[in-house]
Amino acid sequence: MRVLVIGGGGREHALAWKLRQSPQVEKVYCAPGNAGIARVAEVVPVAADDVSGLLRFARDHGVELAVVGPELPLMLGVADEFQDAGLRVFGPGRDGARLEGSKAFAKELMRRWNIPTGYFSVFENPEEAKRFVAEVGVPIVIKADGLAGGKGVIVCDDPKEADQAIDEILVARLFGDAGARVVIEEYLEGEEVSFILLTDGVSVLPFPSSQDHKRLLDEDQGPNTGGMGAYSPAPMLTAEMHARVMAEIVLPTIQALRANKIDYRGVLYVGLMLTASGPKVLEFNARFGDPECQALMVRLRSDLIDLLCACVEQRLGECRPVWDERASVCVVLAAAGYPGAVEKGRIIHGLEDVEALPDVEVFHAGTARRQQQYVTNGGRVLGVTARGTDVTQAAERAYAAVSKIHFDGMQYRRDIGRRAMRWLSKGAP
Ligand code: AMP
Ligand code: GLY
Repeated sequence: MRVLVIGGGGREHALAWKLRQSPQVEKVYCAPGNAGIARVAEVVPVAADDVSGLLRFARDHGVELAVVGPELPLMLGVADEFQDAGLRVFGPGRDGARLEGSKAFAKELMRRWNIPTGYFSVFENPEEAKRFVAEVGVPIVIKADGLAGGKGVIVCDDPKEADQAIDEILVARLFGDAGARVVIEEYLEGEEVSFILLTDGVSVLPFPSSQDHKRLLDEDQGPNTGGMGAYSPAPMLTAEMHARVMAEIVLPTIQALRANKIDYRGVLYVGLMLTASGPKVLEFNARFGDPECQALMVRLRSDLIDLLCACVEQRLGECRPVWDERASVCVVLAAAGYPGAVEKGRIIHGLEDVEALPDVEVFHAGTARRQQQYVTNGGRVLGVTARGTDVTQAAERAYAAVSKIHFDGMQYRRDIGRRAMRWLSKGAP
């Protein structure tokens, strides 16, 4: 089978790496890919948001399945266009992608279907938004309605900060049209967990749990980022909690999508807060998490292509994938300045030294190849991913590999996986 992976980050490297191992896959293309992906796939110079370019490429090269990594092409309707052209594509259409692309849509759907989430209100008018904040008080969370590259969420501890966030989004339009509306929602406290599953619109196939580390600095300090690391499984998602999430959140969401006549086939990523009063939805994403995907792919023992095809063909109910019982940890190495502007072109040293390490995979995100060397080419540069008998050993292996890699300005968190270790040492409450 000829497969086209759309995207060019660490998530797509992990997907392409896994697909490459399938005896059923004869060719993996990746658009636009990156320097690491070029080792496992043929990278093609078509941007992930160039829907007509992707379609043309797929037609011309006999692509039999397109796998969409990021949210933007989904929102732009890449799945709809491929389907209309008779091509198979893994990922929801524009209508389903609104679960991620419009926070107001997602929250209203949850309200209508009694899916547990924080209370909220949606505003276009800044004065009304500020009045709401004054009424309900802080802490409060202000979110741009649309896609803002992970930057449109502001957790406010102080009413002035909230007013400023409202002005930045609605008045200064810091996020453009994504900020035509704001969602103001309850601040939820608890343990954050990523619940990632495949659905073909009828059946649901939960992947093992994982946890992202969204803040830039150790102990969850500093600004929010796209994700500085992840591990799997997340022990806070106990079997009992898993059952609650399925019954109270996942199945009602699938039902709600069907009732809205949305034929959703792809990944549903449920960002959860496990609060004292039960699991609540922070957000939905219509694609794999990055870097959660890296942590998950190294644990998947079954053939990924079987799962993706079954999902597209609505046969997901037949799938019984096998997962590595061991844990995984992915540590993201980012460039200086991230999550703000970064300098590119810094030489990456030491990659060859980690290649021989057992149970370690280095997934590339923002990298390029220049004069026989790998150089930095983005904010998140690499995702050093390791397996171990438990999260402690997986983290030790990941950090041992990290210590061999270097580039100017390299920054990373030293505590990926620590929440799981703490939770496990405390014992389940
Ligand atoms: P989102 O893109 O909606 O997941 O928001 C990014 C991050 O902001 C989340 O991963 C949380 O850490 C935090 N966050 C979002 N919404 C809330 C909330 N209602 N309460 C507390 N933290 C939140
Ligand atoms: N790692 C969080 C996300 O992909 O949205």
